[in-house]
Amino acid sequence: MFASKGLFALLAFGLGVSQVAADNRLQGIYALAKRRVPSHADAFSFALVDGEPDTFVVSDARNGIHVECTTVSACARGLYTYLTQRGGVDIWWTGSRLNELPLRLPKLGEQIKGEAIVPYRYHFNTVTFDYTSAFWDFEQWELELDWLALRGVNLPLAWVGYEYILIETFREVGLDDDDIADFLSGPAFQAWNRFGNIQGSWGGELPMQWVNDQFALQKRIVQRMVELGMTPVLPSFTGFVPRALSKLYPNASIVTGSQWSGFPAAYTNDSFLEPFDPLFSTLQKSFISKQQAAYGADVSHIYTLDQYNENDPYSGDPDYLRNISAGTFASLRAADPDAVWLMQGWLFFASEAFWTDERVAAYLGGVPGNDSMIVLDLFSEAAPQWNRTQSYYGKQWVWCELHDFGGNMGFEGNLEALTQDPIAALRSPGSSMKGIGLTMEGQEGNEMLYDIVLDQAWSSTPLSINTYVNDWTTRRYPVKPLPKVALDAWTTLAQTVYNNKDPNTQATIKGIYELAPSLTGLTNRTGHHPTMITYDTDSSVVSALKLLLQAKAQHPSLALVPEFAYDVVDVARQVLSNRFVDLYVALVNTYTSPSSTASAVSAAGQPLLALLADLDALLYTNEHFLLSTWIADARKWARGSPAYGAYLEYNARNQITLWGPDGEIDDYASKAWAGLVGTYYKARWAAFVGYLEQTKRTGEAYNATAVADTLLEIGKKWDNGTWGTGEGEWWGVHGNTWEMAEKVLKKWA
Ligand SMILES: *[C@@H]1O[C@H](CO)[C@@H](O)[C@H](O)[C@H]1NC(C)=O
Ligand SMILES: *[C@@H]1O[C@H](CO)[C@@H](O)[C@H](O)[C@H]1NC(C)=O
Ligand SMILES: *[C@@H]1O[C@H](CO)[C@@H](O)[C@H](O)[C@H]1NC(C)=O
Ligand SMILES: *[C@@H]1O[C@H](CO)[C@@H](O)[C@H](O)[C@H]1NC(C)=O
Ligand SMILES: *[C@@H]1O[C@H](CO)[C@@H](O)[C@H](O)[C@H]1NC(C)=O
Ligand SMILES: *[C@@H]1O[C@H](CO)[C@@H](O)[C@H](O)[C@H]1NC(C)=O
Ligand SMILES: *[C@@H]1O[C@H](CO)[C@@H](O)[C@H](O)[C@H]1NC(C)=O
Ligand SMILES: *[C@@H]1O[C@H](CO)[C@@H](O)[C@H](O)[C@H]1NC(C)=O
Repeated sequence: MFASKGLFALLAFGLGVSQVAADNRLQGIYALAKRRVPSHADAFSFALVDGEPDTFVVSDARNGIHVECTTVSACARGLYTYLTQRGGVDIWWTGSRLNELPLRLPKLGEQIKGEAIVPYRYHFNTVTFDYTSAFWDFEQWELELDWLALRGVNLPLAWVGYEYILIETFREVGLDDDDIADFLSGPAFQAWNRFGNIQGSWGGELPMQWVNDQFALQKRIVQRMVELGMTPVLPSFTGFVPRALSKLYPNASIVTGSQWSGFPAAYTNDSFLEPFDPLFSTLQKSFISKQQAAYGADVSHIYTLDQYNENDPYSGDPDYLRNISAGTFASLRAADPDAVWLMQGWLFFASEAFWTDERVAAYLGGVPGNDSMIVLDLFSEAAPQWNRTQSYYGKQWVWCELHDFGGNMGFEGNLEALTQDPIAALRSPGSSMKGIGLTMEGQEGNEMLYDIVLDQAWSSTPLSINTYVNDWTTRRYPVKPLPKVALDAWTTLAQTVYNNKDPNTQATIKGIYELAPSLTGLTNRTGHHPTMITYDTDSSVVSALKLLLQAKAQHPSLALVPEFAYDVVDVARQVLSNRFVDLYVALVNTYTSPSSTASAVSAAGQPLLALLADLDALLYTNEHFLLSTWIADARKWARGSPAYGAYLEYNARNQITLWGPDGEIDDYASKAWAGLVGTYYKARWAAFVGYLEQTKRTGEAYNATAVADTLLEIGKKWDNGTWGTGEGEWWGVHGNTWEMAEKVLKKWA
């Protein structure tokens, strides 16, 4: 029952708790069981035992199920293993169904044993905090953290509320609130301010109410993470500072950073205090001591810190880079003698031309020792960097699935890479890989692809894809007997959309209807934002949709399974998304044909608008595909203040559309959401079709600049809107999923 001294030492390092009684350490797991399986909570017992980290044994007990584990995280994973493998239930992004466990708990007979194959199971990208969780309240965080804990994640990023402590730190060195306000970015854009890509806030300054509320939220998040056996990766001082700091400290080594993504200089070119300046260490110590005072001194010693994520260093001289990282690390260790530096390795891929092997070696080499750093190999499934950097020259690193850019929702995936590659990386000679994790920019759909990676972290051989897909589907649709056609639907998806071996289209495939209309450049894009559809639509998503609807015909109670309804909408969404491309190509062909008339162009445009109307109606049938949820989540932080509510709504709208005051990263974070499709994408395409028709009629030449200007104006106007006041703006679910899905098949498949 009680842990030995050895285990205490291990936990003190691995989990960040020390001097806590053994039973206290399990309170979070008991609370989790109570929260998610209330009717059976008393049937589960847990015990921490001595042994290799992250192992568990689940066995039958006299009155239920007993989980023995060597870490709190392994206990959660042990519980999850029982619930999923024997209980036939699961917890999803769409909600927890763990309470649907059979009334009589299934006996095990034989014990189930499990062991993590890596010490770190990591979750989050810095930008997930904006693309997905920007406006979450604690209840939404609670579902997320339970989802993570049960899957065995023990190293989550914890960025919420960063600005509170940063502001205190800046005030302490003499900056005034106006100077600080000039630097901070809006609620939907904080990640890129934290990365030093942007500064300032369009649409109004960041309100202190936001800063204070987020700080209060973070206290609860960090505490919960620790209770669930996780080590939160906490923020630190990065070096990015308000411009006014160089006036206050004229001799400080402050350089101007590079321009990011076409933003005007006022919003980018952030000031960077170079880490060899003593002021850097002063700020670091101040920041970390305030953070320790707020969340507890021993909560974590792992710090997230990125200086060159889509920023170019001031100099490419290897000595300079080594000096920067040495100074940065020294500041961390001066503030916390056990500090470990975690960084996202995206830069080594995204700026590969700058980050030559020699420069990577110099930057990482400035940090002494190998356990002192953890590099997230951010895009391991498509563009691994560990293999060109000799396993990050011995530093610890984590194999990460990135996959989803900007929270886009198209289907895409490579199940084989997700299961084979982490195992191969772990076994490669001299590997310093220490973790497996998820660094998706947004959590939007394609959930199986993320589940499988976290499950792979508990299997020393690549998971069998066929078995995995069948088991996953069986848990997702817990009706008995599950019609075989439901399994066939997912097998079809696994063999098509999730079997993408094309290295040029790895990431969610964006629907072109979400892009600003144009005569050229939309289709068949490859690279960072692929729009190229790498599979045959009929034999993949159309087939899957038919099979799912057959399954429902065979077992009508499937309609009551929330995840089944979600999937039907999602697959039908993809059918429409792909069909739109054909309609668009036909429109362009009609327009560019010299013999076509204005009315022929107008006629060719109508199906595009009709399809978008149907897509909007389809999405409105399910609560998980609503723009109004995003907006309501943002506005609720205003607690009724109209001005603050409007500010939050502008942030929420701008991120998913123009992304910047003037469309700097237009449509990067586009979504297939009801309301967005009907009032924004459709409006843009209607304007485009109207313009094509007009130029055909008048004989004037197509003017791409004029089109772009018009679309930007539509965007600005839309971003300024207030939901609920315009035509077709619904707040809630309406319509019938099954009727809409049948309509999609009949009309568009
Ligand atoms: C900056 O450096 C100059 C020259 O070394 C020195 O005269 C001056 O006092 C310094 N200013 C501050 C604010 O430290
Ligand atoms: C911003 O950075 C870019 C390089 O990325 C540089 O060309 C430009 O001069 C900088 N602007 C300012 C105002 O520092
Ligand atoms: C980094 O460079 C600064 C300024 O040139 C120098 O004072 C400092 O000693 C260097 N630090 C290291 C660790 O090389
Ligand atoms: C690393 O692995 C990726 C994916 O397998 C491959 O495309 C790339 O060429 C490899 N790089 C090196 C330097 O071996
Ligand atoms: C770090 O790892 C590299 C590569 O395995 C090794 O050469 C080096 O000696 C290690 N450094 C330390 C301090 O252990
Ligand atoms: C996209 O590429 C595919 C395959 O190369 C080709 O068949 C198709 O015609 C292209 N579509 C468009 C709209 O260019
Ligand atoms: C295209 O439209 C832009 C913006 O309206 C305008 O400034 C430009 O003169 C137009 N170009 C031509 C060739 O008409
Ligand atoms: C949007 O609102 C801002 C701030 O109130 C205003 O400056 C701008 O003119 C508005 N733009 C449009 C297109 O309504």
